[in-house]
Amino acid sequence: MKRNFKHLLSLAFVAIGATALAQTQDNNRYQEQYRPQVHFSPREHWINDPNGMVYYNGTYHLFYQYYPGGTTWGPMHWGHAQSKDLMHWKEMPIALYPDSLGYIFSGSAVADIHNTSGFGKNGRIPLVAIFTHHDPKGEKSGRNDFQNQSIAYSLDEGKTWTKYAGNPVLKNTGIRDFRDPKVMWFEPQKKWIMTLATQDHITFFSSPDLKHWKQESEFGKQLGAHGGVWECPDLFPLKVDGKTYWVLVVNLNPGGPNGGSATQYFIGTFDGHGFAAVDEKTRWLDYGPDEYAGVTWSNTGDRKIFLGWMSNWAYANLVPTEKWRNAMTIPRDLSLKQVNGEVLLASLPVLELNGIKEPAKSVVLNKAGTFTGRGLLKLSTVSLSDYRVTLSNSLEEELVIGYDKKARQYYIDRTKAGNTAFQKDFKGRFFAPRFSSSQSSDLTLVIDAASIELFADQGLTTMTAIFFPDKPFDHVKVESKDRLKDLKLSGLNAIWK
Ligand code: FRU
Repeated sequence: MKRNFKHLLSLAFVAIGATALAQTQDNNRYQEQYRPQVHFSPREHWINDPNGMVYYNGTYHLFYQYYPGGTTWGPMHWGHAQSKDLMHWKEMPIALYPDSLGYIFSGSAVADIHNTSGFGKNGRIPLVAIFTHHDPKGEKSGRNDFQNQSIAYSLDEGKTWTKYAGNPVLKNTGIRDFRDPKVMWFEPQKKWIMTLATQDHITFFSSPDLKHWKQESEFGKQLGAHGGVWECPDLFPLKVDGKTYWVLVVNLNPGGPNGGSATQYFIGTFDGHGFAAVDEKTRWLDYGPDEYAGVTWSNTGDRKIFLGWMSNWAYANLVPTEKWRNAMTIPRDLSLKQVNGEVLLASLPVLELNGIKEPAKSVVLNKAGTFTGRGLLKLSTVSLSDYRVTLSNSLEEELVIGYDKKARQYYIDRTKAGNTAFQKDFKGRFFAPRFSSSQSSDLTLVIDAASIELFADQGLTTMTAIFFPDKPFDHVKVESKDRLKDLKLSGLNAIWK
């Protein structure tokens, strides 16, 4: 009896201890080493591409390729998070689970305002997700038609989803890589347009109701970069100087400008049937190694907000985090700019970032100062000469970002930025051209615990890179021979409460 009581007592202590431990661990969530503090990352497990991004009734929905069974890529689900301000995210229950038709690969979501699908009930507007069903059995057996497009709808603003009984709605015609449908409403012809990645080109389809699809045209076999498979496309109009152009975004893996996966884009026209590019140049939306699968939110009117996965297929499964793996970029506003007779796409962090910004502090040029390890650094120059921003820690690890006037290039150097051993190509110095020909320049850096995003010349040159220092970078030094017009660093409040 006595022994039993003691035993019970010790069990109770173990239980109390375990609860206390669980609580501490819980409080430590989002505090782990390398945990992004101003970027979306899942509480735990693996993520890749952003999916189904739709703005509806004041809420930004972000779905994403998610494997809840581990921290490496696995049978794909759609995870779900939502935000009112594009900064603070609330993770929601998993939206879509794999089923007899396969894993749930990438795709998009739309607000079917006219209820063309007929899924709406009692005046409730359906959100419709259009995604790729990837059948792993078909793939293993060597078939070519294991990727098909399916749909699902939600009548409660994305909380729960019902898959359409008639899936798949667009059947594969025998192309191994036949995926990642991005759907938009084409108002002039009152129809839906699907932009689909079909191996080494894009195929456009149209539909009156999201259920019946007809092929319209193909684009890109002979254009753009072809170092790898085309994936995750997007198509949308943007205006510059009163003129509308269509932007076709095409992600590519591998074959990016700095190795591995990256996002290219084309500027052109679209008439509801086909896309024609204005020229034959290959252009990159982000030159860094770590922005991939980026696409835009739907239903945001004239505003186009872009979000990418902040990793690279070359090492996404190997980066040294334990509870979760991979994060998203900062959301970016896209715009077109006329530069030396060319129309280029520019990206800048969304203005909502200012909502988590602390008051800006001046930084003394050529002198190291301390900071919290995350922040928004802004500088502008009077004339343009070499400059360099170094983030470092007491272990003498450093990340160097700068401009090389002679080469007309921006660069990010992570060769000495901590742990680079997990994959041979991770260590590196990455370059991006300067497009602007203006005499002066400006630079915005979004610095987080394990990532840097560079936006130069009002976002004409953009680069994203991740890094894994053994201790957080808490020193920053800006060096330039010439004086700068402006140099400021603002802290950023952590988005996790
Ligand atoms: C791009 C991608 C998509 C695919 C998904 C699978 O990163 O390969 O083409 O739908 O990831 O997770």
